[in-house]
Amino acid sequence: MSLNLTDITLTYPDGDTRLTALDHVSLDVPKGSLAAVIGPSGSGKSSLLAVAATLITPDTGTVTIDGTATTGLGRGELTDLRRHKIGIVFQQPNLLPSLTAAEQLQVMAQLDGRSPAKARTRALELLDSVGLADQAARRPHQLSGGQRQRVNIARALMNNPTVLLVDEPTSALDHERGAAVIDLITRLTHQQATATVLVTHDRAHLTAVDQTAEVHDGRLRHAVQH
Ligand SMILES: Nc1ncnc2c1ncn2[C@@H]1O[C@H](COP(=O)(O)OP(=O)(O)OP(=O)(O)O)[C@@H](O)[C@H]1O
Ligand SMILES: [Mg+2]
Repeated sequence: MSLNLTDITLTYPDGDTRLTALDHVSLDVPKGSLAAVIGPSGSGKSSLLAVAATLITPDTGTVTIDGTATTGLGRGELTDLRRHKIGIVFQQPNLLPSLTAAEQLQVMAQLDGRSPAKARTRALELLDSVGLADQAARRPHQLSGGQRQRVNIARALMNNPTVLLVDEPTSALDHERGAAVIDLITRLTHQQATATVLVTHDRAHLTAVDQTAEVHDGRLRHAVQH
């Protein structure tokens, strides 16, 4: 089971014409593997993640998640699919200021109808696996930037997603903390067996990934596999 994008084209309205953000893009990410996507600003990286997350429907092409083609699913079905199968880490940790680290995670499971006790257990396990076992009761303003980003990543994993999509998680961090976040994502990809797509600017982060693809003007070029 995996994430598969086949021949995706996405355009946005642009005055009288349309801007091609993704141009016949295909990407296959097996379960338990990490694909890095690099490319200059404006090349289409976030658009690619938004399509993979089923947040934007492409003009053409197919997104298949866990064997299910998302083309033709209704809004409700897509919301359901996102909730159960997709974890998204946006660039800025959008944590709720009034909630503790553990509560940020628990909210996700409660949306999913799980019991509060089970949600709490899973939240504490995940905080432990991102190295924040002793920070569970802290609120965002009591955490460092790197710690907030780790809460953000743990939250995305709360509902055992098949697919983990991560948009430039290190841009607000110094090099050392950035490298630690990438190591964490690599470890979690194997541990939680997610099909992970990681958008990053920093080529120094690419040593441990299973495949690298580079976007230029909406076109994806696959680098030689490691
Ligand atoms: N909602 C939108 N409406 C119109 N054009 C958009 C929209 N979102 C993005 N674009 C355009 O699509 C192209 C790709 O944008 P995208 O956000 O995917 O780039 P990116 O590679 O993530 O850039 P960055 O590294 O700066 O985050 C850009 O030319 C951008 O201006
Ligand atoms: Mg972007």
